[in-house]
Amino acid sequence: MKLVGISSSRVDSLLARCAHSMSVMNEPAAEDSHFLISPGKITLRHLEKVSNPQSIHGIYPYRGKMSPIDAAQIISQFAPHSRLLDPFCGTGTIVYEAQQYGLLGTGVDNNPLACMIARGKTEPLDKEAVLIHLENAIADAQALTDFPRMPAGPARYFHSTTADQIMRILSVSRDFSPFLLACFYGAICLAARACNGWLWTSTSIGKINSPLRCIDFYSALQRKVRKHVDFVRGAPPAKIHIHDARLIHEIIPSHSIDIVYTSPPYFDALDYTGYYTKLVLEILDVDRARIRGGLIQRFATYRKDMRDALLAIDTVVHDKSIIIFVVGNRMVHKKLVRGADFFSDIAPWANPYVIEREYTNTASELWDSINATRRKEQVIVWNLATGGRK
Ligand SMILES: C[S@@+](CC[C@H](N)C(=O)[O-])C[C@H]1O[C@@H](n2cnc3c(N)ncnc32)[C@H](O)[C@@H]1O
Repeated sequence: MKLVGISSSRVDSLLARCAHSMSVMNEPAAEDSHFLISPGKITLRHLEKVSNPQSIHGIYPYRGKMSPIDAAQIISQFAPHSRLLDPFCGTGTIVYEAQQYGLLGTGVDNNPLACMIARGKTEPLDKEAVLIHLENAIADAQALTDFPRMPAGPARYFHSTTADQIMRILSVSRDFSPFLLACFYGAICLAARACNGWLWTSTSIGKINSPLRCIDFYSALQRKVRKHVDFVRGAPPAKIHIHDARLIHEIIPSHSIDIVYTSPPYFDALDYTGYYTKLVLEILDVDRARIRGGLIQRFATYRKDMRDALLAIDTVVHDKSIIIFVVGNRMVHKKLVRGADFFSDIAPWANPYVIEREYTNTASELWDSINATRRKEQVIVWNLATGGRK
């Protein structure tokens, strides 16, 4: 049986919507638009904290989600109405923050679940209508006499009552807006943690902590919706496309982008269909392997895949564009590969400058010691107006 939500057919329909969105996307930018930063270089101040619990970004615990504070710091240095592209947008942290600063954001990601969250964060909504829709949906879900059982794989992480409530909501979620779906998927993750006594961390996720606690999923969903709904701004319009960044020229007009700002997939370190997303995709009965097959995450082909993506991105920028990649170091065969060096080497653009990122008092320190890296991130910036192409 195929369930509502994003089943395999839902993946197809999202792909179809993506094709449609080509015809409604933003017009190309005038090449002389005043998007450039002043005095010409991006600056970053040291951050004591990287997350902001009072924001929309906690809507879903996506793997590899970047710091919204970091994103805002960079975006705030560009003029409103600049056309910004995040070709690996994930859950849309950058596109959302761009929208807050009045930029015209476009996000692309080949993971439909991530795109749904990104749409939920950036599409306009009517707050009152959302709250009414939610209350009606919960009433409908409670009244169901027949509903599918949660598949055995994910069901072992939930108290049976919580699992049934999730499946009831899934049965009535067919006409949920992207925002409600994003909250629904985020609430599933939250409920999984709560059923396991809130003991899951990024390294212990999936460890069953018996006895599983019964969580009222309807209340968890209501709280999540109420917590995040006020943060949706929905304007200026942002576009989110489910598409392969290596084929980005198929959906974004040539020379139409002023700023590319992204955190690309890391070598083979992260499975963007894993972690909490595995749980959600299994509940939705989505073909996870199919989604994973469309993502860049195998080290063996990483260099070629990323090079193809950079060449495709090159077709959508113009001669004055700024391109910013947030990249990390990785240990590969016991050798440290510095992200900025790797990307400088394969990019078609010349003379980048690199800003080293250093965090204190964050989980990044733990990450660094695990990976034997000195720093988690570098921000690599190509300014085509001054640096040009190779
Ligand atoms: C580091 S994550 C970006 C996270 C994002 N900044 C956020 O805050 O949610 C990298 C993203 O690249 C996406 N990705 C991997 N291969 C891709 C491809 N070929 N085309 C488009 N997106 C891809 C993954 O699905 C993942 O969401």
